[in-house]
Amino acid sequence: MSTPEPTWWTTRAAAMAAIDPAFAGEIDRLAEDQVDLAERLLRLQPGDRALDLGCGAGRHAILLQERGYHVTGLDLSGEVLELARAAWQRRHGAEAGPRWVQGDMREPSVMGPFDVVMSMDAAFGVFQDDAEHLAVLVGAAERLAPGGRLLVEVPNPYFWARHQHTRHYPPGSLAADAHIVRTYRFDADLGRIEDHLTVFRGGAEPLELPVQWLRAWVPTELKALVLAAGFQDVRVVGMDGWRVPAQARPLDPANSAFMWVLARA
Ligand SMILES: C[S@@+](CC[C@H](N)C(=O)[O-])C[C@H]1O[C@@H](n2cnc3c(N)ncnc32)[C@H](O)[C@@H]1O
Repeated sequence: MSTPEPTWWTTRAAAMAAIDPAFAGEIDRLAEDQVDLAERLLRLQPGDRALDLGCGAGRHAILLQERGYHVTGLDLSGEVLELARAAWQRRHGAEAGPRWVQGDMREPSVMGPFDVVMSMDAAFGVFQDDAEHLAVLVGAAERLAPGGRLLVEVPNPYFWARHQHTRHYPPGSLAADAHIVRTYRFDADLGRIEDHLTVFRGGAEPLELPVQWLRAWVPTELKALVLAAGFQDVRVVGMDGWRVPAQARPLDPANSAFMWVLARA
């Protein structure tokens, strides 16, 4: 691996969770809609085995488990996995839930086989080198049963190139008790989005979170990467602005904030 162990993403994920639990991946309407569409597009069958790479606080893993699938949530951060365990426990007490595994999606310590491998919301795309993203996809292909399906959510670069902005979120909008200033910048040379976030709370010093940067491939590049990992029938579906459409729809370059890449092993 060419990245020398940067762990900004785990630091950032934990810092965001500490700012406000809602920031850490609350199970909300968006997550429900995403899981509705994923069930349809992945043609999930009762009892299917799903692996969620970079599962965070488990919003998709928990919803899928509740709908009768056997889910493994893998994340590098022990802190966010604790949030996932707690979220399941709040909803189901001691009932057995998803399997939570701390690990690196570049070399997942789970073997499968799975019927579905998915990665949602800024989990895929954090590495500096596309060889590392390819390694994630190859690892996913190796862990899928024959005919197993892949779903990866990534930002749409055509949208983000036009949506560079700085925005102030007063208390109650992102964090309950803090002002947050968030700046998105699109780096066209590197093909990535930078997300800068500063927290202002009480009289305390402003807290600058590690900058999140996320690779933003154009669909042709991403399809080539997924094909190179050994997948077939690769297709791209676009979100409806920030919302999840009820049915698969083509990417709208100017208006889909995110796109889903679907493929078959
Ligand atoms: C923005 S969060 C998204 C979480 C979740 N998929 C969701 O939609 O709520 C990205 C997650 O990816 C995890 N992550 C980053 N790099 C990872 C890696 N190499 N292996 C596994 N997880 C990783 C982070 O710890 C974080 O929880």
